[in-house]
Amino acid sequence: MLTAQTFRFLAGPQGRATLSWLAARDLGDAQTLPLLDALRRDLPPDLAAAALTLARLRARATAKFSRAEAMFFTPDALEQASGEIVSAWRARRFALGGYPHIADLGCGVGGDALALAALPGVRITGLDRDPLRLALARANLAAYGRAADWARADLNDPLPLRGVRAAFFDPARRADGRRLFSVRDYAPPLDVIAGWRFAALAVKLAPGVALDELAPYTHAGAGVEFVSAGGELKEAVLWDGELGFAGRCASRADAGETLWPQGAPPPPLSAPRAYLVEPDPAIIRAGLLGELAAHLGLTLYRLDESIAYLTGDDPPPAGWARAWRVLAWLPFQLKRVRAALRERGIGRVTVKKRGSPLSPEEAIRLLKLDGGGEEAVVVLTQVAGRHCALICAPPSDH
Ligand SMILES: C[S@@+](CC[C@H](N)C(=O)[O-])C[C@H]1O[C@@H](n2cnc3c(N)ncnc32)[C@H](O)[C@@H]1O
Repeated sequence: MLTAQTFRFLAGPQGRATLSWLAARDLGDAQTLPLLDALRRDLPPDLAAAALTLARLRARATAKFSRAEAMFFTPDALEQASGEIVSAWRARRFALGGYPHIADLGCGVGGDALALAALPGVRITGLDRDPLRLALARANLAAYGRAADWARADLNDPLPLRGVRAAFFDPARRADGRRLFSVRDYAPPLDVIAGWRFAALAVKLAPGVALDELAPYTHAGAGVEFVSAGGELKEAVLWDGELGFAGRCASRADAGETLWPQGAPPPPLSAPRAYLVEPDPAIIRAGLLGELAAHLGLTLYRLDESIAYLTGDDPPPAGWARAWRVLAWLPFQLKRVRAALRERGIGRVTVKKRGSPLSPEEAIRLLKLDGGGEEAVVVLTQVAGRHCALICAPPSDH
């Protein structure tokens, strides 16, 4: 376990040498005993275990951080830390406000402070109640050659800040390994912001946050941004004060693009056409299907009132949506779908679903295909309220 003491060791010369030795090893589960045996020749068991845990966390953290190999984490803190792509995207919005000093409230191990501290000429103050996380955050910024001020504080108390006009707040959305769904259960709860007086405030929220819980803030002028990266929904952000806006927007952090609400009506309904179109998840969460069609300059249709799959005669360009060419579609009955696949020589399928009670694994099992021949994507969804299957060409075959 990483404690203040084991951290001090791991950040020192012998610890660093141990970690670079581990970085060159196979760290798979099967190697745990041989690795611990080797480490214990020179180290007491607690330091050996902490070194192995950190080496594994660093390997995992490469998905979020480009300098993970020099950073410090605890398992929970890594899980909660914002990755570089989304934190840099948020920092860009703060840069628009030109704030000279930004507070990072609930800074954890510094995933967000890292990006904010990269803004030229901006001073960052990170606050957290956990002294170990503050120490790790300091070391993590140093790994990037960046720095911030750090202070231990309980965010439920009056903030120990003066003259700071902008803040980013990242409350904990997990407790004892469980996700917390309501903003009232976050630590600290979202309503702590009512007592704060920042000119600009951004709050990171779970991507699945219930929009009705945000109504008190959105009615008062705050906007909600849904952020994706690599086609995956990463987070929702409540932007309040000077950085607020009306409604909900969708951003692709990796592409640096935002689609803003324009009041476009949702696309009309239609039976499946030449292409099945799946909007980026940020578009779906922000409810911007009409805006998407306008942005792409395409006529798109919804398959169903309640489902976010679209259809159209032309494929959209890559970026805000993915598309599959529709080969056939039919009401979902196992026998009929199986026959339609056999007719086309299709023996291998990937199943996607929205609004279908069957899981992809169950569907594949029930379809009992022989695993040979052509490949297809089977999409289980609703078309005008009926459970249907769309048989589509695999993505490369457009
Ligand atoms: C989601 S994590 C922050 C992650 C961070 N933004 C990052 O990217 O590394 C939430 C943080 O809030 C801190 N926290 C929770 N309740 C707090 C409180 N009442 N006062 C101060 N910090 C608190 C936790 O210690 C934790 O580090």
